[in-house]
Amino acid sequence: MVTTYNNVLYQTDNGIGMITLNRPKALNALNSGLLKELDSLLDEIAQDDNVKVVIITGSGDKAFVAGADISEMQSMSALAGRTFGKFGQAIFSKLENIPQPVIAAVNGFALGGGCELAMACDIRIASEKAKFGQPEVSLGIVPGFGGTQRLSRLIGKGRAKELLYTADIVDAQEAYRLGLVNIIAPADELISTAKALAEKILSRAQVPVQLCKAAVNTGMDTDLESGIAYEAEVFGLCFATADQKEGMTAFVGKRKPNFTGK
Ligand code: CAA
Repeated sequence: MVTTYNNVLYQTDNGIGMITLNRPKALNALNSGLLKELDSLLDEIAQDDNVKVVIITGSGDKAFVAGADISEMQSMSALAGRTFGKFGQAIFSKLENIPQPVIAAVNGFALGGGCELAMACDIRIASEKAKFGQPEVSLGIVPGFGGTQRLSRLIGKGRAKELLYTADIVDAQEAYRLGLVNIIAPADELISTAKALAEKILSRAQVPVQLCKAAVNTGMDTDLESGIAYEAEVFGLCFATADQKEGMTAFVGKRKPNFTGK
């Protein structure tokens, strides 16, 4: 299946949904049009049980996403800015919380809203050409699509504050060292690396994969006791699945499991 929006390309293949943000002339900057399409597409994906893993990348060889669209924001009032920020935040929270794991394949600049988008994904793979940063203070604003919150949660508040206050842009190696990216791949192997990771996830039992995502996300936003209690519930739920019986029967029988996603 191929769905074409104006600013977003979407293809599915064998359980993998591939989103390509497609405004290459503006380095895939996030304008309202692109954000609205991404919002609709995420609703579509969240309801599609055939899609098990999502990969998100940028079109062209230069940028993942060079940020929110500066031309569109240039003349915004404070109230319009807040509305735009809340809109982007809601979409990134939706992305963070769709049932399926999401892999960001960062093919170039991931700045401002681009870095924030990558951070709303579950796992980040960076091309060795990728560059990351939150340069908002050099534009007279703060990050508005979750950057002040997700960056500090991901890399710790000291390092996050340094990047936020300086507007420094870091390369893939430094992003890896900071814990901002999971894997670095050669540029021409970025998508195949993301697909290989997606296929590895696809080979596992899908109900617990999705429950792991829900449990980590729920736990990160609450206290340890509540997170642990949530984990006990989803752990128990797994024993109601056919894949739990299959996984453990296969282990005991010394064979590979044949998961059905049920
Ligand atoms: N918004 C709108 N247009 C953008 C853009 C953005 N964020 N980033 C790049 N573009 C456009 C440029 O205006 C240019 O358009 P024209 O060809 O029509 O002039 C085109 O994309 C190519 O960009 P450059 O010529 O600047 O390319 P470069 O290779 O010289 O530089 C770059 C690349 C370093 C990424 C540079 O484009 C840049 O600094 N972009 C802005 C990065 C940034 O500040 N992002 C944060 C935005 S604010 C934000 O995201 C707020 C938030 O948290 C929600």
